[in-house]
Amino acid sequence: MSKLAPSILTADFGHLADQISQAEQAGADYLHLDVMDGHFVPNISFGSAVVSTVRSLTELPLDVHLMVSNPDAHVPAFAEAGADIITVHAETSVHLHRTLTLVREHGVQVGLAVNPLTAPDVYLRALPLIDLALIMSVNPGFGGQQFLPFTKGRLETVRSMRDELNRECIISVDGGINTRTAPLAASAGADLLVVGSSVYNDRASVAANISALRSSLEVDPLN
Ligand code: DX5
Ligand code: ZN
Repeated sequence: MSKLAPSILTADFGHLADQISQAEQAGADYLHLDVMDGHFVPNISFGSAVVSTVRSLTELPLDVHLMVSNPDAHVPAFAEAGADIITVHAETSVHLHRTLTLVREHGVQVGLAVNPLTAPDVYLRALPLIDLALIMSVNPGFGGQQFLPFTKGRLETVRSMRDELNRECIISVDGGINTRTAPLAASAGADLLVVGSSVYNDRASVAANISALRSSLEVDPLN
């Protein structure tokens, strides 16, 4: 079954330790940390100091999603802060091979993200170099957006590339994943589902939301 990576973007930052421990207790597989610079994406979220704080609060692997214009300048600080995976965007690096190598050199697992309309061909050459391929199913920058339906086909494309070129690489999907779209993304080949506002919201507890997502993954979307 696909794994879950709750994103704390819409968590209650006044009670961050509690919010994280609720996800951990509910069986989250990773914690997804969305770093936004107000330049590559319109929004600003948090930086390496918060990642370092989160590191001290949980044993879960930290999946740091860098939505910043100049990732090379920031990789060392996020590695130092305790990231287990650092994911950079293909759109942000002219010298992408250098950027991916830089992440590896810092002893951190390497992720590569693509926006919804970025050609997935980049993975043909990049897959042997990476540990995680992150297919954006919304335009990055905000939590709570709608899953873009055409990105399901992109997941299928990257999944078949992965099966051929690097079977160890995790296929992840990010944006608009809820109990309706989770089974679609899983059936399209996603191993890891980033879940933000479907976990951290004021409608139900973190535990109830994670449990509902897991149940949705037990249903075959074709039936
Ligand atoms: C969007 C971020 C996501 C976000 C997902 O730019 O990369 O990780 O937190 O939030 P939801 O699940 O609410 O779409
Ligand atoms: Zn993200």
